[in-house]
Amino acid sequence: MQLSQNILKDELIIFEKKFKEAVKSQTPLLDRIMRFIVNRKGKQLRPMFVLLSAKLCGDINESTYRAASLVELLHTATLVHDDVVDESLERRNFFSTYALWKTKISVLVGDYLLAKGLLLSLDHNDFRILQLLSNAVRLMSEGELLQIEKSRSLNLNEDIYFEIIRNKTASLLASSCAAGAFSSSNNEALAEKLRSFGENVGIAFQIKDDLFDYGNEAVGKPTGNDIKEKKITLPLIYTLNKIDKAQKRELIYIIKNKNKDAEKVRYVINKVVENGGIKYATEKMNMYRDEALKILYEFEDNDVRKALEELVRFTTDRKY
Ligand code: IPE
Ligand code: IPE
Ligand code: MG
Ligand code: MG
Repeated sequence: MQLSQNILKDELIIFEKKFKEAVKSQTPLLDRIMRFIVNRKGKQLRPMFVLLSAKLCGDINESTYRAASLVELLHTATLVHDDVVDESLERRNFFSTYALWKTKISVLVGDYLLAKGLLLSLDHNDFRILQLLSNAVRLMSEGELLQIEKSRSLNLNEDIYFEIIRNKTASLLASSCAAGAFSSSNNEALAEKLRSFGENVGIAFQIKDDLFDYGNEAVGKPTGNDIKEKKITLPLIYTLNKIDKAQKRELIYIIKNKNKDAEKVRYVINKVVENGGIKYATEKMNMYRDEALKILYEFEDNDVRKALEELVRFTTDRKY
């Protein structure tokens, strides 16, 4: 991410200051949790996409920074809630908010972050940007709920998988890029182009995330968690379609009834690897990456475009 970090050196410092300001609270417990959240920051990919999209389409301004803060506020809120939903105890190489403060507090902290984001936009009349991002939040909730529904019935195919990840993950990246572009250009056509770019990046991003779950590398959060949560992702969907009926029945049985048994989960993971599930998902991921790059290449070649290209490639090549 060298190029992006160089190009955005000053802007990222300003962003971090504003983000920190945006989450401040007078309530002691909230203030403590907000300091925890600010200190355990993530990759900040979405703010970088906001800032670079804005730079690609015009000049970064105050509304760009607010869009970047809003996006990171929403992202953080959904992670806090997601770890409750997924019963996940680790996040960003440390205990999750859920692990430290449990369900009740995590639900309220997520709501607080969401409200802070809404206020940040409304206090400055950033209506279009708020509309773009509220739409993403709606889609994220729909995606997460569709995922839960499917993890109960266990009947899903590739189309449903893509609907889930387009909604729960790609929508926010899409809106980030659109909001960035709109903040600097006021141009709906440009915003739409960047939305579509961001959506493709987002789909590739979630496939990569789902691939991490099949690996053993340290990525700062648990792996092997998806099967435990009965989440059927692309590598497994491909495998289930490929193996014979008896094997399929066996794997479905494990996912349904033995999903907390580490040894059985390992068995499923091995089956996926053996049958080329990882390879298949990687190829699909790269297709979405290339689709994003195709849209990007419609812009003139300059340092900002190069930085965005680097960020897209980071999305699929990253180690965490
Ligand atoms: C994690 O997003 C949640 C998903 C959508 C898979 P990131 O990997 O961008 O999380 P942080 O912000 O860097 O921790
Ligand atoms: C993405 O899904 C979560 C959100 C869109 C909020 P995951 O549940 O796979 O994300 P991680 O792996 O917990 O970060
Ligand atoms: Mg999760
Ligand atoms: Mg995941």
